[in-house]
Amino acid sequence: MRKYLFFTLFWWPFFTFAQHQNRINLNQDWLFAFGHPFETSLDFDHGTGYFSYLSKAGYGDGPAAREFDDLPWRRLDLPHDWVVEMPFSAEGSHSHGYKAVGRNFPENSVGWYRKHFRPTDPGKQYFLDFEGVSRDAKVWVNGFYLGNEPSGYQSFSFNITDYLNFEGENVIAVRADISMEEGWYYEGGGIYRNVWLRALGPVFIPQNGTFITYDINKKNASVQIAFDVKNRSLTDVKVNVLHEIFDGERRKVGEILSDELYIKSFESISGKSQLDMKGIRRWSLEDPHLYTCKSTVISSGNVLDSYDTRFGLRTIRFDGQKGFFLNDKLVKLKGTNNHQDHAGVGCAMPEGLIAYRLQLLKDMGSNAYRSSHNPPTPALLDLCDEMGILVINENRLMGTHQEALSELKRLMVRDRNHPSVIVWSIGNEEWAIEGNDIGAKMAANMQAYAKTLDTSRPINAAISGGWGAGISTTIEIMGYNYLVHGDTDVHHAKFPDQPSIGTEEGSTYTTRGIYVDQPEKHYMTAYDQKPLPDWYSIEECWKHYASRDYLSGMFIWTGLDYRGEPTPHDWPSITSYFGMRDLCGFPKDNVYYLKSWWQSDEKVLHIMPHWNWPGREGEEIEVRVYSNYPEVELFQDGKSLGKKKMEENGHLQWAVNYQPGKLSAVAFDKKGKMAQETVIKTSGKAKSIFLEEEVFPQPQSGQTVRMVKVSAKDENGIMVPIADDLIQFELEGAGEILGVGNGDPTCLERDVFNKEYRLIEMPEVESQELSAALLMKYCGQEGEHLFQELSREAGLKAYTATFELTDKQLAAKMQWFKKEIAQDARYYINGKMIVPDTEADGGVFEFPDGLLKTGVNSFLAIGSPLEKKYVWESLNTSPGTLQLVYDQGIWQRSLFNGLAQVIVRPGKGKLKLTASGEGLEAYTLLLKE
Ligand code: GAL
Repeated sequence: MRKYLFFTLFWWPFFTFAQHQNRINLNQDWLFAFGHPFETSLDFDHGTGYFSYLSKAGYGDGPAAREFDDLPWRRLDLPHDWVVEMPFSAEGSHSHGYKAVGRNFPENSVGWYRKHFRPTDPGKQYFLDFEGVSRDAKVWVNGFYLGNEPSGYQSFSFNITDYLNFEGENVIAVRADISMEEGWYYEGGGIYRNVWLRALGPVFIPQNGTFITYDINKKNASVQIAFDVKNRSLTDVKVNVLHEIFDGERRKVGEILSDELYIKSFESISGKSQLDMKGIRRWSLEDPHLYTCKSTVISSGNVLDSYDTRFGLRTIRFDGQKGFFLNDKLVKLKGTNNHQDHAGVGCAMPEGLIAYRLQLLKDMGSNAYRSSHNPPTPALLDLCDEMGILVINENRLMGTHQEALSELKRLMVRDRNHPSVIVWSIGNEEWAIEGNDIGAKMAANMQAYAKTLDTSRPINAAISGGWGAGISTTIEIMGYNYLVHGDTDVHHAKFPDQPSIGTEEGSTYTTRGIYVDQPEKHYMTAYDQKPLPDWYSIEECWKHYASRDYLSGMFIWTGLDYRGEPTPHDWPSITSYFGMRDLCGFPKDNVYYLKSWWQSDEKVLHIMPHWNWPGREGEEIEVRVYSNYPEVELFQDGKSLGKKKMEENGHLQWAVNYQPGKLSAVAFDKKGKMAQETVIKTSGKAKSIFLEEEVFPQPQSGQTVRMVKVSAKDENGIMVPIADDLIQFELEGAGEILGVGNGDPTCLERDVFNKEYRLIEMPEVESQELSAALLMKYCGQEGEHLFQELSREAGLKAYTATFELTDKQLAAKMQWFKKEIAQDARYYINGKMIVPDTEADGGVFEFPDGLLKTGVNSFLAIGSPLEKKYVWESLNTSPGTLQLVYDQGIWQRSLFNGLAQVIVRPGKGKLKLTASGEGLEAYTLLLKE
């Protein structure tokens, strides 16, 4: 044993990601260009080779080929969502938020990515891991086709060892196609989650190759570690696996060495080890303590691999009558449903932004998250583990055919070590089957299959109809989607032992900062209204769930607004209205209702609406107070409007005659003592900008972000709740702005101001004999002299083409990335000779001002013909690529009801954000380092 301990001293785990192994992050320095779903000439002629990549190994063509010239492509870092960069259009998809992508915009619907890299160790096994690509991703390495992942939500991985070239450059190529949709909500486009390169020895624990289960008895746990070891070498091996457990303070608290395992060449073996842990610290909402199991594969004293598995020790139990128990303590699930996009960045969310969003939900008193309706990004679960948030982890599509079960398996095997995951959801509102026998059978079978992968968590499905029939009769945990669809008491009476959760409730429509419906503008009041006459407001549904013990809890549709599904509106509404918070995470007033009753650590005293109503003087306005104090008294300009008692899970309201001035709510505690006061005042006009950096726990690993709240204040420093000024942003120092937003569901301003790149492949040239007439056609009078000069040289030919440009294209900064079509050629555009600005890879040309024109432009090259090296070679006839770069100008965003947001990715060093706007005092904020 001593021998093994010696090794572990030098292999200290990093305690960062939930499961990791020698891997490097591959998010930096990708190249990107748009392709086309069906027009092959606009898709770099990909897939047109006589032998395609499906016929011969290594025959990936176009951008899939290793040698492809990607010099003109745009350089970027992941995560990347190209959809968020696109303009909005009424022709875009309603459910996906009206971006100009999808079937009506084929030119914006295929994205190609290329990444050059150099692996260094030929003795290693190399794996390429994608956490998620939207969508229908095809992947090649060095021209070798590796496979296709249709879903935009699954993580996938390839062993690329045999395709690598250790002497030089290697290229990963990914083609993502979003012309078809998978969900009915914004899904983004591109490599929007992390990419990793794992380099392992030939004997290793495969990805997700450990599963830690345990039995807890008071302060002790019996821990079972199931693990796989794979032998990818050509000889058999004997190994032992040493499992060491470290607590959150990195203290070793246990270890166990497995029996010797004999693994034949190219086989895998599964092992199981068991150890006892004494005096355990349980994972709980208040103390989400995490252990790490470090599994080291050892053979004859040599360490072959090391694999960390992060886990938590906790018990969960759902009871049909009493609800949900965490560590034997009753916990009502106060959850929200969420999709995975945010203002400014779409789906490309750095870990820090996910942490920000989770913290906002926690601040509202929420303790649970449903990843509707798809497998989440791994970072979300890592953060829920770290922050103490419970998760319903949801599969994308129901089914029992091989592909559907394989999707469920991949989700469960990837995520089953996360203590935050308490329920597997096999599906959501599967309308074709939820109320019938097919649904009942399918749910029973999926459930049985899921149990072969994990018996420690129950299975759930979210059901919107046919309660009492179909899926609801066989599913382990009933998921009620909307009280309007049935009576939970009736269902519970029929199935008293079946635990249940309100998987969706709410779907109310609100707009932050709006207190009077403005149908023409698509703005919906933030007073918690029923969405439809027989549906429930947030307060009504929470009262239903809070008052019934058998209901384990409720998940609101949704925590934050998301792009798409702008029900009940259509264009130009581009985001949903369902969120308790807007797309930036700024609170709508419902947040304070929930915060009042979903948590008890903090006191709440919130007044709505704001008190700026010019033109409504003397009119009666409903003033609400959300609070968890027993009594509140409201004052208008110092005069009492009455003291009211708060009903549990309720709110208070007063009818108040509007006059500009001051409203104050004074709260009294149980003893009747004055405890807190909240004041809101009518503001004047916006005078100055104010920037504030929001505080939230940065993630333990991954990319951090800085979230900046932008607002406007009047001359007395009062925030102006109706300000709508356009604000401009400039960032100085190490870092970049990732995106801007304001939470306005109808705002069609740009989310990002990155430069937009487009490529035009120049048409093939025609080879012609040199003649005075030809040169005069292209170069006018000059042509004649030119002919005299050139005719002295033997063997020269002319190569001609024409290309068309639009006004819009001419507005771009344009460069031509030349490809060789002749030897020692000289080039003429519209009759003027041009020379390269750089000789990089054969020549990059910029065009002198005024040379290019709208409409037809001519291209002429004169040189000696290229020579074939091999008879079967075909010679290049394409002059290359025009790169167009559109500058989107300075970063800016209008305030919406007083607020906007800037998301910043910091580098190392100082960062200064300056905001300015017409007629407003500018503000400069030094961001935290
Ligand atoms: C539900 C559905 C959600 C969302 C919501 C909007 O039926 O499960 O995904 O579409 O409606 O109200």
